[in-house]
Amino acid sequence: MPGRDPVSAPGDTGAAPWWRSGVLYQVYIRSFADTDGDGVGDLPGVIDRLDHLEWLGVDGVWLSPITCSPNADWGYDVSDYVAIEPSLGTSEDVDRLLAEAGRRGLRVVMDLVPNHTSEQHAWFVESRSSRQSGRRDWYVWADPAPDGGPPNNWVSSFGGPAWTFDEASGQYYLHNHLRQQPDLNWWSDDVRDEFDRIVTYWLDRGMAGFRIDVCNIIIKDALLRDNPPATEDDPLDVQLFGQRPVYNGNRPEVHEVIRRWRRLADRHPGTLLMGETPVEPMAALAAYYGDGHDELDLAIDFPFISAPLEAPVMRSLVGDLERALPDEAWPVWTGSNHDMSRLATRWAGGDPDRTRVALVLLLCLRGTPVLYQGDEIGLGDTDVPPDRLKDPLGVAYWPAYAGRDGMRTPMPWRDGPGGGFTAPGVEPWLPFGDLTACNVADQRADPGSVLHFVRDLLALRRQIPDLHAGAYRPLEVDGDGWAWQRGDDHVVVVGMGEGTTVLDGVSGAVIIGTDRRRDGEPVHGRVTLHGWEAVVMGLD
Ligand code: BGC
Repeated sequence: MPGRDPVSAPGDTGAAPWWRSGVLYQVYIRSFADTDGDGVGDLPGVIDRLDHLEWLGVDGVWLSPITCSPNADWGYDVSDYVAIEPSLGTSEDVDRLLAEAGRRGLRVVMDLVPNHTSEQHAWFVESRSSRQSGRRDWYVWADPAPDGGPPNNWVSSFGGPAWTFDEASGQYYLHNHLRQQPDLNWWSDDVRDEFDRIVTYWLDRGMAGFRIDVCNIIIKDALLRDNPPATEDDPLDVQLFGQRPVYNGNRPEVHEVIRRWRRLADRHPGTLLMGETPVEPMAALAAYYGDGHDELDLAIDFPFISAPLEAPVMRSLVGDLERALPDEAWPVWTGSNHDMSRLATRWAGGDPDRTRVALVLLLCLRGTPVLYQGDEIGLGDTDVPPDRLKDPLGVAYWPAYAGRDGMRTPMPWRDGPGGGFTAPGVEPWLPFGDLTACNVADQRADPGSVLHFVRDLLALRRQIPDLHAGAYRPLEVDGDGWAWQRGDDHVVVVGMGEGTTVLDGVSGAVIIGTDRRRDGEPVHGRVTLHGWEAVVMGLD
């Protein structure tokens, strides 16, 4: 519909922060590269593979948690926020990683998990030791309901009640995830001060910022009111087991805490604060960018990644977001991560043409793309047999839900024993997929591979300001696809269906196409794509 979609605010001119013009790459460290032969990826493994990331042409690395954890939720249950998890490496490895990444022009962003700790964190051990403990109020404790049951109706994001009873002290503690992940009480000034120290510590050590885990739920309703039931209008990905989660998180006071982190972050110019913020509606997401950029730089939500790979749906989501964000705010796009099925499977169903189209979408919309390790080779999910499941969700819910292991399997660096991930003969912590069908080394040797396509696309993004900074303006096409202009001089056309997609009124040349034979093809007034094909064009 002409005029339905907005024209975005102009992008950066000149001095854009690195994360705004750049591309991020998520390293799920346990599955990236193992150097000590225990079948688990580690920090030296990340260092060894920095050359791949430099060659690929990304700008920053988001590292999944590296601090001490008993691994009930694989690093997202932290037992020490400043010590390195021994199975992943040492503090010296972190320094070496920061130095080696810096030498290659790569920034490192780490995962910060402020909503909850491990039940084994010394703070929680002390907090649960008695009602009089000096750290009792570091966590959310409450008396039983009159019938002895949980204090309210809150449910955990992982299923079941969000409260566990502590026999010894006669109160319940809150956990929005596993019972091994007690929620911190962010009304406590001591908790806030402690996290100021943690944030400062890592920034002073050279981290370029944080991805902030479940950033939107850290503050809970002070009165612990029951969540209301969800209604039909509540989007499925925001409903919490039939509830509308308005009191166990998503409280307005969260913004005070983020502003506090922003002030700390700004002591190191260019620091990236990227929150995981699965909220509704879009206006709520916009609020996380703050007023005049005083909160997050990037707020990740899930409607896009959860959408089907269909032009009308995605185009409308992108239009909604462009409309909702304040002028100075910058979108962020992801197609895969360690919690969601990989894009090559979820969006593309294993079809290589669809995978390339999905990658064009991800890398050519206005905003910062986040590639998940393996996206660059079109890696799909792996079926993990039930006896190899490691994700607590898979273990609890299989076969109804197999959990998140399928998207966390080791990076296939090459074919053959160990897959370049670990030493031959070592059993990786999660099984490999089909190493012969999809691996980095084979694709690197093949200029027609997905890997080369992604690398070339990243190089173009870097070279052409329109592609990393230009405004987004949707264009009308005939057929199944979607097209948009970036800045003054570039157009992206994607065929998202079996039929053709035709864009009229454009002249110039194809710069890069998913069908590489079209690179350089002149365009005189009309471009026609086959099904599941995409091109980036320069206009005359
Ligand atoms: C992380 C998950 C984790 C959960 C609890 C999420 O947002 O990405 O992997 O299980 O937070 O920390």
